[in-house]
Amino acid sequence: MKLLAIVHTMHLGNTMQIAEAMAEVAPLTIAELEDADKYNLSQYDAVGFGGGINAGCHDSKLLKYVEKLNTVPAYSFVFSTSATGKSRKYNAKLIKLLEQKGSKVLGSFGCKGLCKFFIFAIGGGINKGRPNIDDFDAAQSFIEDVMKSVEREKHSN
Ligand SMILES: Cc1cc2nc3c(=O)[nH]c(=O)nc-3n(C[C@H](O)[C@H](O)[C@H](O)COP(=O)(O)O)c2cc1C
Repeated sequence: MKLLAIVHTMHLGNTMQIAEAMAEVAPLTIAELEDADKYNLSQYDAVGFGGGINAGCHDSKLLKYVEKLNTVPAYSFVFSTSATGKSRKYNAKLIKLLEQKGSKVLGSFGCKGLCKFFIFAIGGGINKGRPNIDDFDAAQSFIEDVMKSVEREKHSN
């Protein structure tokens, strides 16, 4: 099993911490978005796309990168961190984009992350200490589920 996570952590490194927690329990290579062109996505069983939420969805740099991909990975997963942790809502745009381009999205994950944007910087930010150990545990369970889904997909084809 070979997994890749392309991460665009735009604010404080919160989403990168989530990717790193996943990599502790999964054969997951982490690529920063800036370096993503160095990787051949078709060589991985599934590719994850993760980043901090900016104005209600993943940051435009990550969305544009996916939009411009000539070939999307057959299997993908999406993750994010945000001030509210509302990943169902926030991950939807990226999931739709991947699906429209023909990738099967095997899972979606999100949790709260420290936010020091604008007025939230007062007093050191909101969601101090997030992501925390519970978030890392949840991220690790998530990536284990993604791996199970990959195995199921392989055996059903
Ligand atoms: C410019 C900007 C816009 C943001 N917009 C939202 C938002 O719409 N909803 C939300 O819940 N959090 C929002 N946040 C908070 C970040 O998504 C949150 O801090 C996230 O954990 C950052 O992840 P990162 O450090 O990996 O980039 C915003 C933060 C910044 C800096």
